[in-house]
Amino acid sequence: MHHSARTIAQIQDRLLAWYAENARTLPWRLTRDPYRILVSEVMLQQTQVDRVVPYYERWLEQFPTVEALAAAPTRDVIAAWAGLGYNRRAVNLQRTARAVVDEFGGVFPSTVAELIALPGIGPYTSGAIAAFAFEQDVAFLDTNMRRVVHRLVFGSDLPTPTASEKEIVAAAAELLPAGHGWVWNQALIEFGAIQCTRRRPACVVCPLQDVCAAYPNIQSDAAAIPVGTRLKNEGTFEGSNRQYRGRLINALRSSEALPVSAIGPVIKDDYAPSDGEWLRGLIGGLQRDGLVVLAEDGPGWDDDGDPVIRLPD
Ligand code: ADE
Repeated sequence: MHHSARTIAQIQDRLLAWYAENARTLPWRLTRDPYRILVSEVMLQQTQVDRVVPYYERWLEQFPTVEALAAAPTRDVIAAWAGLGYNRRAVNLQRTARAVVDEFGGVFPSTVAELIALPGIGPYTSGAIAAFAFEQDVAFLDTNMRRVVHRLVFGSDLPTPTASEKEIVAAAAELLPAGHGWVWNQALIEFGAIQCTRRRPACVVCPLQDVCAAYPNIQSDAAAIPVGTRLKNEGTFEGSNRQYRGRLINALRSSEALPVSAIGPVIKDDYAPSDGEWLRGLIGGLQRDGLVVLAEDGPGWDDDGDPVIRLPD
């Protein structure tokens, strides 16, 4: 750790003061219900706050409790997710809900160790539930928090971070003010979202200038990144097929079931018979993610005939 105890105390005071002045009032900041926290954090994983708010409210009307979500048909859960993108998140969210009901009688466990053992919950979400529902002093990182901690403690992260994930998590734990895990983690998120953004950090008006390891370099480093540079993770197989996966699920939403032969042209304008293997792979990925199942009464992939797929019950 590169900062003295005195500097750490200054970072804590200034960031918390900034949060008190600048925090948005968001619905999931007004509850300590672990189910509601879970829903919000999963929705926020790849979707902007402004887009999430109306979905969050509607979701809780339709599935007000972990029991309600666990009991719902998966096709209704996927339908309620329509428009948020990355439908896999909806299926995983229901898996988590079913595990909480089946293994914990519908009462969320409160420790990171128990939470992370649930299906669909990783290091970030387990930390977020422990901090935001149970007000524990735990350090965890999403993209925004990781960037803020890196800059404060290790310096500029542009064009690439210099510290390892392990080092950044350790630094986050050292920065956390004892007894204030809830507000501290919300403050890191908010600061990363509003003030210390990836490409346009507002250093000119930043209250942490003199305690930030990145302050001397970050603005010129940010200006040196060519416009249109892609973030990492944008070139994966799932990423490149994201649009087609979404279209396929949308097509299944509006029909009971579809034969595989009918799907290609519906989701891809220039679909050609030579795309058959690609389509098979696309559907295989959706099956693995629990978003699509093979109709029980139709042929299988290795049988003669046209397999029929549908959304899961
Ligand atoms: N993104 C992820 N978690 C969040 C939270 N609790 N508040 C605002 N944005 C977030």
